[in-house]
Amino acid sequence: MAKHEPVILGIETSCDDTSAGVVQGSSKILSNIISSQVKIHSEFGGVVPELASRSHLENIYIVIEEALKQAALKLEAIDGIAVTYGPGLVGSLLVGIEVAKSLSYVYKKPLLKVNHLEGHIFSSLFMEKNIKFPFIALIVSGGHTELVKVSAFGRYSIIGQTRDDAVGEVFDKVAKLLELGYPGGPEVEKLAARASFEIKFPEAVMKDGSFDFSFSGLKTAVRNYKHNNLDIDNNSLCSGFQQAVIAALLNKTFKVALKNNIKRLVLGGGVIANKTICEAFVKKAKKEGLDLFIPTGKLCTDNGAMIALAGYHKYLKKQFCELDLNADPGLTL
Ligand code: KG4
Ligand code: ZN
Repeated sequence: MAKHEPVILGIETSCDDTSAGVVQGSSKILSNIISSQVKIHSEFGGVVPELASRSHLENIYIVIEEALKQAALKLEAIDGIAVTYGPGLVGSLLVGIEVAKSLSYVYKKPLLKVNHLEGHIFSSLFMEKNIKFPFIALIVSGGHTELVKVSAFGRYSIIGQTRDDAVGEVFDKVAKLLELGYPGGPEVEKLAARASFEIKFPEAVMKDGSFDFSFSGLKTAVRNYKHNNLDIDNNSLCSGFQQAVIAALLNKTFKVALKNNIKRLVLGGGVIANKTICEAFVKKAKKEGLDLFIPTGKLCTDNGAMIALAGYHKYLKKQFCELDLNADPGLTL
């Protein structure tokens, strides 16, 4: 790696993870520190916005210091500061934004505003020297279920989305129904892996020819099944639910790729931490002859490095923003 490759600090506080990461160029992650608030929110069965912003405040400087320490860099050596400005919880976003603005001002470093979803989209492509466009991105997290055609950096068209619950949200709600704890996704996946058989649930897609999803019917089907079959084991229920989600995601995503004649597919968002979902995509992509990009490890869930990576591309284009940057909780692509 050439020494002059820009180094970007990324700050992410959109929901319940306080995170900072340092990247150099488009392919070197120097650090990626995440402070999870799961313990704080788990007793409430979901994220409590007020507690989230307070915890971000307590942890943000610790996380940034650790990210710099692991990268063996001082703030003076950073070329740009990228921060998530939406979508997310307003109180949480503001913590990251205010800290990024202060550091930008004091250290005279350009400020780069990043859409959280852009972070998820580009997190699996950090090893690609020259990202080839267009590609289809499927973003599935606690707050988003988005099928996007990406034509270039900053050029996105949303082709499909959920009409009700996001995929991660429905995992969390099914887990709550079965009293598995929060966040539910990893627990549901664990139980599903132990199932000896699975219950058949209907696919969670809109049958109106659109590329939209709908997960509330599936959630109700799981609830009704449990209600009517109290002695059913949760493993089979989780496995059937997970298979129905996978069927819906595969169905719409590959149809979109085929219809647009696009051979590259990118996955992103917390739900992509689910190995069974990833394996199903790998298998189908191989069969259909598509190149598939999946983020690994910490890059799946919310993290600062993915914000720094997206920020790096903005830095190259000199897309700097002013110090009056504000949070945009409902930001879209
Ligand atoms: O991207 P993320 O960390 O935060 C948001 O931007 O929402 O995603 C969090 C979501 C949660 O709903 C969580 O239950 C889900 O991702 N998730 C999973 C798994 N790990 C996390 N869902 C299914 N299977 C998993 N293994
Ligand atoms: Zn996210």
